[in-house]
Amino acid sequence: MRRKLAAGNWKMNGLAADLAELEKMAAAKPSPSVDTAICGPATLVHRMAALGWPVGGEDCHAAASGAHTGDISAEMLADAGATYVITGHSERRADHGETDADVNAKTQAAWRAGLTAILCIGETEAEYRAGDTLDVLHRQMAGSMPEGCTGANTVLAYEPVWAIGTGLTPTSDEIGAVHNALRDALIERFGTEAGLAIRILYGGSVKASNAAEIFGIADVDGALVGGASLKAVDFLPIVDALEAAD
Ligand code: PGA
Repeated sequence: MRRKLAAGNWKMNGLAADLAELEKMAAAKPSPSVDTAICGPATLVHRMAALGWPVGGEDCHAAASGAHTGDISAEMLADAGATYVITGHSERRADHGETDADVNAKTQAAWRAGLTAILCIGETEAEYRAGDTLDVLHRQMAGSMPEGCTGANTVLAYEPVWAIGTGLTPTSDEIGAVHNALRDALIERFGTEAGLAIRILYGGSVKASNAAEIFGIADVDGALVGGASLKAVDFLPIVDALEAAD
């Protein structure tokens, strides 16, 4: 049985004043059936973790330490109180040229530090229009997911690049077909036990108004939420919708 997960991604947003939003989230009654987390900027991770709401980083370096000015290791995130880290977000892949091999190494770094990786894959608009979605996702999974993925160490996030921050989403049938194909691929690659235990999140323009419909789709185990995770008033209804979903 997979526990549902509502994870936020604050991206390059969040100053000390914004911790008030996380305080409001942390003050809400913990859901008995839904895991929650906010992945925040490295500058806030320590203070976010102190508020008692599960916290993640947004990226990590593959190495544990060393001469990598400006980078943050998974060990540093864990030391600051994080329990999750996003790897392979499409903005990292696009802005920093991260390859599947990089994402694979970062995911292994997350495990080394005891973090759960929220590993992102997703097709671009051109790939979607060309009908290449599943080919792209299978290729990204093959390259980005290390051997040894389990339900405890990895969460897979399907985030169509064209749906991120645009207000656009695939149809429910499209999301369902993709998640079903991803589930099959996980079972084939990692075996039945791990393949059934790894959670698959949908991400891309999830908000309170579409959350219930998305969470009603088979094999959608939760969401990775960007813009709508910045304010408690937007994020908590998404958590509620996930809790209410079958
Ligand atoms: P969005 O971002 O919810 O703002 O579309 C999702 C993400 O990038 O994880």
